[in-house]
Amino acid sequence: QLPVLSDLFGRFHNYLRISVTERCNLRCQYCMPEEGIDLTDGDKLMTTPEILRIARIFVAQGVDKIRLTGGEPTVRKDIVELIRGLNELRPLGLRKIAITTNGIALRRKLPALREAGLDGLNISLDTRDPRKFELFTRRKGGTHVLQAISEAAKLGFDFVKVNVVVMRGMNEDEVPAFVEMTHDEGIDVRFIEYMPFDGNKWGQKKLVGYRDMLLNLHAIYGDAIERLPLEKNHTAKSYRIRGYRGQFGFITSMTDSFCSACNRVRVMADGNLKVCLFGNTEVSLMDLLRNGASDADIIETIGEKAYYPCLLLSKRLKSSLTHISESGDAHMVDVSG
Ligand code: GTP
Ligand code: 5AD
Ligand code: SF4
Repeated sequence: QLPVLSDLFGRFHNYLRISVTERCNLRCQYCMPEEGIDLTDGDKLMTTPEILRIARIFVAQGVDKIRLTGGEPTVRKDIVELIRGLNELRPLGLRKIAITTNGIALRRKLPALREAGLDGLNISLDTRDPRKFELFTRRKGGTHVLQAISEAAKLGFDFVKVNVVVMRGMNEDEVPAFVEMTHDEGIDVRFIEYMPFDGNKWGQKKLVGYRDMLLNLHAIYGDAIERLPLEKNHTAKSYRIRGYRGQFGFITSMTDSFCSACNRVRVMADGNLKVCLFGNTEVSLMDLLRNGASDADIIETIGEKAYYPCLLLSKRLKSSLTHISESGDAHMVDVSG
């Protein structure tokens, strides 16, 4: 019998992304409108015990990596306790605990997060210029993020990755400066192709494909650029400048996507489970949690309502998977973290 978290294309979902809040302390142009987004009522969002229970259930089914996302996960007051709670799941098979954060309110929290069991961080920063940072995020604080990155690099986390969304006319000229951050700081940098998102004024002209970025880097670094092997469940194509400590990479969601390598499953802050970004199936785990369901009931529902229909009923997913089976990959757009 197939494990609950596997599909017919041989993809096993051992990587759970949990959104722990919808709120954010920035207003990145490509993500949110100035006024923010409509927030779900607080009592409809997962509490910490609920998040930890869901995490435990997934780990029992073979999930070995959990990433907390948002919104901005550090705006949750109990983020350290959450990490500590996840850390207790290691004996059940959890191996990696990570967060994706904008780094604005991170620096002070880093030692406690490390001590609580956080393995690594992906920190979003699109520009090293504090004035441009305000253009990107509609808020001040670029220097705080840079400081948090340096501090994190010193604290001995397994990995610190900087996520840079590259937009034409905004920051493509900073790509080399970001690559230089991999020289000796012990961090990796990933350049993300700008993706369309409801209302984010995406346009083909603003997209900088990874081939363009790579060409420009070749003009600077030439043969010193070394391609690294693809990791098993990669979202990024990775490179290194010979002699540099860290790597850089490209998340090529727009020009060369990577669905066939996808091993992720998502739980949103309201407790809805989303197996695939293409699938329109969202299954409410919250209803189960709050109606006294047992772990076995929840696992059964995940299998029956999320995985099974996701494979058999979702037209869009079905066509994307057909595409995967034919070409080994499919086009996929993700913006929701
Ligand atoms: P690691 O591989 O663990 O470092 O994480 P990640 O790169 O998946 O996570 P992160 O939160 O840093 O996201 C970086 C970018 O990858 C974001 O733009 C996400 O929207 C995108 N991304 C994450 N997972 C997927 C996916 O399954 N499909 C697509 N197309 N994009 C994804
Ligand atoms: N296109 C590309 N990346 C995006 N992110 C958020 N919105 C977009 C978008 N429209 C990035 C954030 C963060 C990661 C989780 O997703 O900058 O690094
Ligand atoms: Fe906040 Fe991240 Fe969206 Fe920026 S991209 S507004 S930091 S959730």
